[in-house]
Amino acid sequence: MKEQILSLVSPDYPWKEHFHWLEETGSTNDDLKKLARQGAPHGTVLIADRQKGGHGRMGRSFHSPGGVGIYFSLLLRPRCAPGELMHLTCATAVAMCEAVEKAAGFLPGIKWTNDLVYNRHKLGGILTELGFSAKGTVDYAIIGIGINCCQQETDFAEDIRGIAASLSMVTGEKIDRAKVAAAMMDALYRMDARLLTEKDAILDAYRRNCVTIGQEVSLLRVGEPVRHGKAVDMDAEGALIVEFEDGHKEAVNSGEVSVRGMYGYL
Ligand code: BTN
Repeated sequence: MKEQILSLVSPDYPWKEHFHWLEETGSTNDDLKKLARQGAPHGTVLIADRQKGGHGRMGRSFHSPGGVGIYFSLLLRPRCAPGELMHLTCATAVAMCEAVEKAAGFLPGIKWTNDLVYNRHKLGGILTELGFSAKGTVDYAIIGIGINCCQQETDFAEDIRGIAASLSMVTGEKIDRAKVAAAMMDALYRMDARLLTEKDAILDAYRRNCVTIGQEVSLLRVGEPVRHGKAVDMDAEGALIVEFEDGHKEAVNSGEVSVRGMYGYL
């Protein structure tokens, strides 16, 4: 699989030597965090065939069976303050839309902030994690992505059936996971090249693909009653602007609340 993926990345892909394929692991994000602390270089990529402890935001597990998905983590070492990376998850989502379009032939939507969706079904998710230096600058960023590629409806656990979908379920065709992985690597390398210099253009692309904007949403903030409003825009850092019934607007950050569409999963 490793050689197959490497044969499909673009000739200018610069991080070929820092790509590792794993048959099985707990979590590629956790593995890469350890490698980052041991000095692994910018551009290191881990992809696993299956994960025993794949996880997403807010401690949720990410079901990662073998042979059907891509479980991918990329290590970046951007030289910047943490505040300059507020749009990292958004930039990754835009890059993943490009990668899916290239490998599977259709453009997914983005459910704010970190899910790839199609027709109200989740195709995959993104988990970004930062590590800091003693000076408070960014030491490393880990970008973790899981994409459902080849599953059929009955392959999903009962609790996510009807919510999750795979690229193959959308296209009705067989999906080549090596092609998906190579497209992800290329799209992320290009994303990294413009991450700190083209923030506005990246967020514009995100807005165009974001299915949450314009929808009624519920805000679930720990320890507070659920509040309802309408997602009307995103600000310049990638926060969601929600308008409430009394007309006041609030910028919502992905770390502080969970946003759900009020009419099922969107
Ligand atoms: C989410 O849906 O909230 C994000 C899911 C992210 C899953 C990916 S799979 C590769 C990497 N390793 C992990 O443990 N998580 C991410």
